[in-house]
Amino acid sequence: MRKLSPRSAVKFGKMKRFFLILAAVFSVLLCGCHDETPTTTEVIVVEEGKFAAIKSGEEYTVKSGFSVLVNGKLRGEPGSKIVVEDGGELLVNGELEVSGELLLEGFLGVSDSASVCGAGTVFVNEFDEINCEGRFTAKITPPAPVVKDGVTTVGGVIIVNKAISISPDYGNGLTEDTEAALERMRKDSGYEMPLISGFRDYETQVAVFENWCSKNGIEDAERFSSRPGHSEHQTGLTVDVTSTDDLFAFTDEARWIGENCYKYGFIVRYPKGKEEITGYVYEPWHLRYLGTSTAKLVHDSGLTLEEFLGAEGGDYRGEYVFSR
Ligand code: DAL
Ligand code: ZN
Repeated sequence: MRKLSPRSAVKFGKMKRFFLILAAVFSVLLCGCHDETPTTTEVIVVEEGKFAAIKSGEEYTVKSGFSVLVNGKLRGEPGSKIVVEDGGELLVNGELEVSGELLLEGFLGVSDSASVCGAGTVFVNEFDEINCEGRFTAKITPPAPVVKDGVTTVGGVIIVNKAISISPDYGNGLTEDTEAALERMRKDSGYEMPLISGFRDYETQVAVFENWCSKNGIEDAERFSSRPGHSEHQTGLTVDVTSTDDLFAFTDEARWIGENCYKYGFIVRYPKGKEEITGYVYEPWHLRYLGTSTAKLVHDSGLTLEEFLGAEGGDYRGEYVFSR
């Protein structure tokens, strides 16, 4: 069982111990004194086996420079608010029950044996601020989409689909993280997972899409091939592996991928039965890299990426104009 320790402590350790920090970690049981802002400690611990609650109508803030370490259980009751400020961190080794609101401007760590649950909602600014290895069943409300230089992101996650285009100039190959994650997945699975298609630039996508249109007609082609400017392959974060034959879905390898790829940071981007939302039929070979934490959150949510990010999806908003 891997437990999280405060990042600040790790950082100080690396700085050749300028300070003898946290020689004794004060254990503060939040229950009953949760409204007192700590002034003399940098780490607040809810000890293993202990329980602390933030009651309805109350707000508890993890201030910048502070770590709250939940080794026992922390519950934000309905009507309560927990705020993790930028520079603050909430590290869960036990259980965090969010039945009110959790506003995340700082860091949330959830270790592999921990859980974040509850009927409340977690408001996230940047998905990078979550490192989730444990069980996460609380609802996440992401921020509004941001469009910059022709690229749309939600909480730092790039989104491209029929409704949301990407700049034709974007990208120049698979990202290093995507390649490394694929390599790890190949090694661990024992499957070779040859790359059928990785990064495609705009011109390549014109050729691919229009070729499918000439073979199958545009109506059919659009169910599995993207118009140029709308393909996730243009992000450098997407790979097609092994086979794009429909029969691939029935192989052990496709099953393994469906069950395990999130552990390597990928999701099966176009799941079965979600064509109305994603815009595409089931593609068990088309994997989108999100990083291990975000991929796990999406996987645990059971949602499509569009639903998870609260992003537009579905069909194109206009007609396609052929290049030739
Ligand atoms: N096959 C996917 C939808 C693409 O063309 O990007
Ligand atoms: Zn693909």
